Amino acid sequence: MATWSAPGKVFLFGEHAVVYGKPGIAMAIKPRVFVTVRKSKRPARAKSPYIDGCFEAMGVVGSVYINSQIPSSSGLGSSAAVTVATLSAINDEFALNKSREDIANMAFEIEKTVQKGRASPTDTTVSTYGGIVLITGSSRRRLPPQNMHLVIGDSLVSHSTAKMVEQVAELKKTNPGIVDPILDAIEGVGLAAIHHLSNPKELGRYMNMNHALLEAMGVGHPQLSRLVLASRSAGAFGAKITGAGGGGCMVALCAKPVRHRVAQAIQSCDARAIVTGLDTEGARKEKNV
Ligand code: PMV
Repeated sequence: MATWSAPGKVFLFGEHAVVYGKPGIAMAIKPRVFVTVRKSKRPARAKSPYIDGCFEAMGVVGSVYINSQIPSSSGLGSSAAVTVATLSAINDEFALNKSREDIANMAFEIEKTVQKGRASPTDTTVSTYGGIVLITGSSRRRLPPQNMHLVIGDSLVSHSTAKMVEQVAELKKTNPGIVDPILDAIEGVGLAAIHHLSNPKELGRYMNMNHALLEAMGVGHPQLSRLVLASRSAGAFGAKITGAGGGGCMVALCAKPVRHRVAQAIQSCDARAIVTGLDTEGARKEKNV
């Protein structure tokens, strides 16, 4: 029996633009998914295409138990975390000697297959390695870790990443003169932000700019706007949509003493708040329970 965990993620900058080869900056966060795999003659009956994909890719049969702290379908990367933790646990239980890089690549391929081609390597990279990652096209670079105090607001409004990506693609096709400069501006914000990762006040300003640009592309939602404004009023340095938008989550960057005030402000808007921070570890082996 082997138990591994992997973290969820938030996009700090560049969601949607990353689909067009612009830089995306994402970071691993504290809620994790825990997966236990055991050798078994009977195949896993997880009813998840991600888990099936993991056993298929590794060419083994086993049973699986999942315990997730990450809300699913909220844009916090739960499917990538499940995939990375399952591959890591299978690798350990069956002594397959795959490297971390192999796991990241396999997880990306599985996500891509299940999501019918619509996946960037962001979630699987961040979940495998942890830390803050800069994604540009097919290149992935880890940025220096920072001690950030984040509050995530889950709007509890369901959304579809595939639908939002398609919506932006359609708008780009019909209005390239508007959308292309917005994507360029998102790139500009992300590139500027890289130089201020250790300065939360400055970083917050860039997050606000990125939020406005996402709204301009039509991926906002009234409830996300409410949570963003409530967080800023409660003292956050900055707040923005994180992930595909149209529902799902927003993220606020705060000074440590105000994070619970920001969380309360989010909760008073009928949303769920998660106070969190950077997870530098990525996939990790856990004690079996
Ligand atoms: O909602 P999420 O966390 O799956 O993020 C989607 C991010 C996009 O840039 C919109 C799509 C992608 O695959 O990068």
